[in-house]
Amino acid sequence: MAQHFASDNYAGICPEAFAAFAEANSDHAMAYGDDEWTRRVSDRMRAIFETDCDVYFVFNGTAANSLALASLCQSYHSVICHEAAHVMTDECGAPEFFSNGAKLLAAAGEFGRISPDEVTRLVERRSDIHYPKPRVVTLTQATELGTLYRPEQIAAISERARQYGLRVHMDGARFANAVASLAVKPADITWRAGVDVLCFGGTKMGLPVGEAVVFFDRRLSEDFAYRCKQAGQLASKMRFLAAPWLGMLEDGAWLRRAAHANAMAERLSRGLADLPGLRLIAPTEANGVFVDLPAEVAAGLRRRGWRFYDFIGSAARFMCAWDIEAETVDALLEDARSLCEA
Ligand SMILES: Cc1ncc(COP(=O)(O)O)c(C=O)c1O
Repeated sequence: MAQHFASDNYAGICPEAFAAFAEANSDHAMAYGDDEWTRRVSDRMRAIFETDCDVYFVFNGTAANSLALASLCQSYHSVICHEAAHVMTDECGAPEFFSNGAKLLAAAGEFGRISPDEVTRLVERRSDIHYPKPRVVTLTQATELGTLYRPEQIAAISERARQYGLRVHMDGARFANAVASLAVKPADITWRAGVDVLCFGGTKMGLPVGEAVVFFDRRLSEDFAYRCKQAGQLASKMRFLAAPWLGMLEDGAWLRRAAHANAMAERLSRGLADLPGLRLIAPTEANGVFVDLPAEVAAGLRRRGWRFYDFIGSAARFMCAWDIEAETVDALLEDARSLCEA
C-alpha cells in the first residue's frame, strides 16, 4: 500500500518519534512511569502549556476520553457533546461504561461545532430528577468535520459552561493540527480559554501509539492513576509511551509535521472544490477534507485503488496524515478530475 486518505492512523511513525523511541531503548529504567523519559516529557508538556498541569499517558484515544470524562462525572451526570463527536459515535459506549452510566447528550451545531446557546438548551431543557444532570461539555479540536474552534469560541463555551457548573473537556485527537493551523499558543485554546482537561492526541501526530491526558485543574486528577490502572491503561514500560512524545515535542516537530498535513489538506480541498459537481461540506481548517462526492466518482476513485471513508450522506472524508506527499494529493486530484469530467 502506498499512501491513502482513509485515516491519519494509516501513516507510520514519525522519524523524530522513532529516534526518541530507539534512544529510550538502552539500559534498564524504572517501570510504571517512574522513569526519566516520562518525567522529561511531562516537564516538557508543562513548559509547552505554560502551566503546572498533571500529565498521564494511555494507549489510545478512547481510553483517554473515557477515563478523562469519568473523572469529571458521577454515574448520574451527563456530558454534552456534538452529535458527531467521536465519544458519541465511535467509542462503543466507553465513556458511559467507564463513568458507570453517565449519559451523553447530543448537541447540534454547524460544521461539527457546539455553540454556547446549544449548551444552554441542553442544560435548561429539563431540571427534574429524571434527567441526568449535565456536568461536562466536551469539545473536539479539530472537530470531526475538520473545522476548528477559535480561542474566543472556546472561551465563550467555557463561560457558559461555568454558569451552569459544568466542566470542560477537550478531545484533542488532532490537537497538533489545531495549534498549527490557528497559530496560537497551546494554552490559548486550552486552560486560558477555560478547558479543564485535554486529551492530547499522539497517534495521529506521528507516534507509534499513545495519547496524553493533561489536567489543567489538578484537583480533577486525584486518583486518575488508579483509573488508568484499573482500565488496563497503565503501561509498565511507560518509557516507550513517553519517549516518542519527547522526540515530537522537543524541537517543534509536532507543529511542523501537523502544519504540513494541514497544508496538504488545503491543497486537496482547493483542488476538489474546483472540480465540477463537487462541493465541500465543511471548510477545510485542519488536516481533513469533507466533500460531497457523486456516487460514480467515489466508486471510480475506489476502483483506482484510493481509500477514504464515507461520511454523512453522500459525503466522503479525506484525511491527510503527517507524511502525505504533495504528489499523492495531486495524483488523487488527477483521478478525481478525470472522473468528474467523464
Ligand atoms: C476525534 C477523535 N477522537 C479520538 C480518537 C481516538 O480514537 P482511538 O481510540 O481509535 O485511538 C479519534 C480517532 O479516530 C478521533 O478521530
